[in-house]
Amino acid sequence: MDKKLTIPVRGGALSVRVAGQGPAILFVHGFPLDHQMWTGQLPLTSDFRCIMPDLRGFGASQAEVGEVLTMTQFAEDLQSVLQQVAANQQVCVCGLSMGGYIAFELWQRCADRISHLVLCDTRAAADTMEVARGRELTAQKIAVEGSRELVTSMLGKLFGPSAPPQCRVEVERILQSVRASSLMAALRGMAQRTDFTPRLAEIRIPALVICGHDDVITPPVEMRQMAGQLADSQFVEVDSAGHLAPLEQPELVNARIASFIS
Ligand code: MLT
Repeated sequence: MDKKLTIPVRGGALSVRVAGQGPAILFVHGFPLDHQMWTGQLPLTSDFRCIMPDLRGFGASQAEVGEVLTMTQFAEDLQSVLQQVAANQQVCVCGLSMGGYIAFELWQRCADRISHLVLCDTRAAADTMEVARGRELTAQKIAVEGSRELVTSMLGKLFGPSAPPQCRVEVERILQSVRASSLMAALRGMAQRTDFTPRLAEIRIPALVICGHDDVITPPVEMRQMAGQLADSQFVEVDSAGHLAPLEQPELVNARIASFIS
């Protein structure tokens, strides 16, 4: 089965691709992408039921955005998705970067629904004041000048030097289509997010922590440290990959996810 569902959430609906059969994996995309960043994970549909939403404000989802899109709001939406497509079932939650921030919020809200966590190229820490201020300035700039500068800067940071050119083309296409209002609201939401570092030891769900060797946004040294603070974790550093390790090295990442869950 491979379907696009429209799932009602507060103030609108999310577009959710649901494909495959087996234990469920909820894939939560990073900023400012959409579910298409998980294209490399589609081979997992032969053994798993892959639930791939476009978060509020992104991709084909049509839901109110407002001034700030908080990680709590995203997590609330995903709880609605789980209730509607995976009721009475535990799921593996796999989040990349902003998707990881949301995975921590989901754990806080409904840990009993989560069988495994896969944390890709992300961090538990909140923004420093300086980073948060930078995000606000970027949001203000987007309001006046549009998103070109942000898109160029993201494209310069997302990939490792050996990323396949096709990945860059695909990601650029997604970045060009994002609405400015969603960019601004998610930037502000990330700046306000909770610091989960003090709570990492409380997370007893088995966690697979994946980081591209060349990730300059959430570098391996920081992710390895985060993995060490989780109660039950494995850390994988992926060669020849940057911040989008699942997209840049799908075969290796899929093999690690599959053996982790099975
Ligand atoms: C992402 O990939 O989701 C972003 O780089 C996260 C962030 O800006 O903190």
